[in-house]
Amino acid sequence: MRIKLMCLTFVVAAGAAFAHQGAMGLVKERMDAMGRVQGDAKVIGQMLRGQTVFDADAARAALDRLVEEARAIPGHFEVRDVSAPSEARELIWTEFDAFSGLADEMANAAMGPADTPEALRQTFIAVGAACGACHEKYRAKTD
Ligand code: HEC
Repeated sequence: MRIKLMCLTFVVAAGAAFAHQGAMGLVKERMDAMGRVQGDAKVIGQMLRGQTVFDADAARAALDRLVEEARAIPGHFEVRDVSAPSEARELIWTEFDAFSGLADEMANAAMGPADTPEALRQTFIAVGAACGACHEKYRAKTD
């Protein structure tokens, strides 16, 4: 479990380096939405790494935002747009239901418990797995 958490922490930390300079319109909106997802995941990641004090209410609030953000993902991709610098893969639009299903998985995972550090850790691992499952299939670069 520790290894998985470290991977996720890496995924979340690496986000800071994602460049989306030059993105416009729909692509920018969706990258900004992913940026908010990233921000909420970071709040939790920092708690689990002991960089901030565990706070069950703050963790719950971040997870609740992640639920809403996950539910909004399909809407951000409804219209096909792969203009540079988008990393969205064409496959999203050939199997949009499956893509949306992974957003549902993320929402369900984010509904998990956060009342203790260990519960939060388990919930966060499930959320991270949902990020990874979608990126692996539908995002061109998986760094
Ligand atoms: C249902 C699919 C899906 C889920 C779930 C998902 N993502 Fe994404 N994410 C994408 C796609 C597709 C892109 C590429 C969008 C583009 O470049 O147009 C992306 C891009 C990103 C980016 C880069 C944004 C940018 O500015 O270039 C970050 C950061 C990110 N996701 C973080 C996360 C995190 C953290 C999670 C989980 C908490 C998550 N994502 C869950 C599909 C998903």
